[in-house]
Amino acid sequence: MAVERTLSIIKPDATKRNLTGKINAKFEDAGLRIVAQKRIQLTPEQAGVFYAVHKERPFYGELCEFMASGPVVVQVLEGEGAVAKNREVMGATNPADAAAGTIRAEFAESVGENSVHGSDAAETAAVEIAYFFSGLELVG
Ligand code: PPS
Repeated sequence: MAVERTLSIIKPDATKRNLTGKINAKFEDAGLRIVAQKRIQLTPEQAGVFYAVHKERPFYGELCEFMASGPVVVQVLEGEGAVAKNREVMGATNPADAAAGTIRAEFAESVGENSVHGSDAAETAAVEIAYFFSGLELVG
């Protein structure tokens, strides 16, 4: 399987509860390497650009406000099949549907405040990584 990179975001509900270390341990235990990471505060507008693909959905405004409601940790994860592996470790979007042991099963509070974001495909990952990081910030 090819080595890939994917964009991960630890969301405000998780940074507020000091869960960054526990979430990172789940990624590392699954064989994903954190090759870039920074803690930032998004504006609703910056979140809106990131989530533009969802702009027609009823929860778009709420999602953008939530993502700007506190610090987020944006990170790049690297590993074999990293996009799919990250989504497996994250669990289903709705924590009620997330498999036991996944990040969302253990930590997420609701379908909106669900602790982590992960790119859904390699093509999306490339765009999402470039939104937050320059090439010089990725240290494999
Ligand atoms: S997915 O993973 O793209 O298939 O999930 P999807 O259901 O399409 O949801 C996309 C993102 O929107 C968030 N979401 C919500 N936010 C607030 N309120 C409600 N009701 C809601 N439903 C979905 C969801 O957490 C996904 O965020 P990301 O960051 O992409 O995982």
